[in-house]
Amino acid sequence: MTKRVVLAYSGGLDTSVIVRWLTDRGYEVITYTADVGQGEELDEIPSKAKASGAVHAIVEDLKEEFAREYCLPTLRALALYEGKYPLTASLSRPLIAKKLVEYAQKFEADYVAHGSTGKGNDQVRFELSVWALNPDLEVLAPVREWEFKSREEEVEYALKHKIPVKATKEKPYSIDKNLWGISIECGPLEDPWVEPPEDAFEWTVSVKKAPEEPEYVEIEFEEGTPVAINGKRYEKLSQLIMDLNTIGGKHGVGRIDMVENRLVGIKSREVYEAPGATLLYEAYRDLLSLVLDRFTFHYFLTHIPHEYAKVVYEGLWFSPLREALDAFTLSLSKRVNGTVRLKLYKGHVQVVGRKSPNSLYVEDLATYSEKDAFDHKAGANFTKVWGLPLKVLGRVRKNVSDSGSSFR
Ligand code: ARG
Repeated sequence: MTKRVVLAYSGGLDTSVIVRWLTDRGYEVITYTADVGQGEELDEIPSKAKASGAVHAIVEDLKEEFAREYCLPTLRALALYEGKYPLTASLSRPLIAKKLVEYAQKFEADYVAHGSTGKGNDQVRFELSVWALNPDLEVLAPVREWEFKSREEEVEYALKHKIPVKATKEKPYSIDKNLWGISIECGPLEDPWVEPPEDAFEWTVSVKKAPEEPEYVEIEFEEGTPVAINGKRYEKLSQLIMDLNTIGGKHGVGRIDMVENRLVGIKSREVYEAPGATLLYEAYRDLLSLVLDRFTFHYFLTHIPHEYAKVVYEGLWFSPLREALDAFTLSLSKRVNGTVRLKLYKGHVQVVGRKSPNSLYVEDLATYSEKDAFDHKAGANFTKVWGLPLKVLGRVRKNVSDSGSSFR
């Protein structure tokens, strides 16, 4: 019986070499390529895959599914790994894994394969996702076990087997791209003290090249979904995000530089560009603070962003925990209606206005003008009761015996 495998295929050197490497070992290879908004021409993928030895090449547009089912719930959780990383690459892996599983079933393949290395997070996300959806599939990860020790050796193998290799001089970076952002690793970035060179960035301009004038952008939300930019409605969330990437990128907004803790125990220096996600996080957080009461908002901030980010980062997308967290944030998102005005200027984004039909802001309560409707006398009693524990502490510290009367 033929051993058939569905391979997550980007069309780059590694995955092209994998096609041939697996073919040499008796596998029949079907490649699977997803358009998750990486902005690359995918027309030539099938011919390239076949030239490398694939029997069949699938290319699919997943932009909208990615935006709605993966980016949007992550936005609603305001999830940032270690407080900074909007989880761009981490989010695309479970979706691609889900598709590998579907096509493996369709083509009666017993194997799926990916091109991730043995020291990254992506292997974990691919494999946990595949197993959660179909524990009988075997996952192959050729890069973890093959003989090549360098890119040069891979190129040599590719040339020997007439695998199409791009002649253009590649940048020294390892790049992963989708509409939620770009992650950039390797090359000069491996020294965490070295500032990322300008050629590492693709979507964002440097502060120096950003416009001298600020730009205002209004993002409108309906039940926790961004639906319009500056009054222009979008049917496709994916398109809205991509347009925000352009708007933010023009002002140099959304560059992230961090040292992060990988799952496998390594610290790695990572650079990200996520202009659209950055604008959406700012806007969503602001609207959420306007429409949630204090108890719920504080509970959310304490329990959700960090936990959700860990779930995504650590490969647990297809877990009951992620589903339950989604149910929680979905419930809150029903109130997230309204518009946030952002000001973009020289690498910065600032919220400068917000309004919502669900707003809990009451001007008559907040005002210091004559319209003030707040009961100031209640403030004194409230402060007395709220402050009682510290008053007791103060007394004990002062070693004054408690006559009782001084607490009234
Ligand atoms: N460190 C990020 C993460 O684990 C980015 C990974 C990017 N993947 C890649 N193959 N370059 O999510």
